Amino acid sequence: MIITEPKFDEYIARISREAQLPDSNLVLRDMEDYADRENFPIIGPLVGRFLRQLALVTGAENIFEMGSGYGYSAIWFAGGMKSSGRIVCTEGSIENKTRALDYLAEAGYDSMIDFQVGDAREIIKKYDGPFDIILNDIDKEQYPEAFDLAVPRLRRGGLFITDNVLWSGRIFDKNPDEATRGILEFNHKLFEAKELFTSIMPIRDGLGIAVKI
Ligand SMILES: C[S@@+](CC[C@H](N)C(=O)[O-])C[C@H]1O[C@@H](n2cnc3c(N)ncnc32)[C@H](O)[C@@H]1O
Repeated sequence: MIITEPKFDEYIARISREAQLPDSNLVLRDMEDYADRENFPIIGPLVGRFLRQLALVTGAENIFEMGSGYGYSAIWFAGGMKSSGRIVCTEGSIENKTRALDYLAEAGYDSMIDFQVGDAREIIKKYDGPFDIILNDIDKEQYPEAFDLAVPRLRRGGLFITDNVLWSGRIFDKNPDEATRGILEFNHKLFEAKELFTSIMPIRDGLGIAVKI
């Protein structure tokens, strides 16, 4: 199921892609080409630009990513932070870490990154935070657990951002699979939590944005 009329997505993608980026960020283009070739599910340029805006608006200095892949979302965040900012990246695959560190070095952001390999749900327990932003992009059946781990580590006014909350419309399935059930439970948690104020942006695959109040 398509969330937005494709021609609008195509227009925004095109105008975003044509827009000027700092030289150091041209590496994002190579990363997008890699994702196309390998069919790797990155957040893409529409959401990437939005993440950078959110880092700029919040003045983020400490970000935690649950599910960093090969560093694409981290580069969008890093470009919206001061060079003294820190991003903890977590990723299950060592190959993705190696690729990420190459891209991050090419973009000039490697000194801002603490890249940990393993299960993000275990790694986050070693960090007290509080973080300005936590991005949740791990396996979808793990989303409810990610919620419980992330929210206490967010500062007041901080953002808990989650990709794929509309899951290409599978949220409407009559017999949802495990991943879809994870997203459905997670979305309820996001909206019901008293310490959060949540909205869903229907861009790309649905982006959940919750501010801790
Ligand atoms: C959708 S990709 C996200 C990529 C990244 N956020 C981006 O947009 O550039 C999800 C990544 O999270 C990793 N992943 C999934 N579950 C994980 C977990 N529990 N702990 C660590 N990494 C995980 C996968 O290996 C994959 O690379």
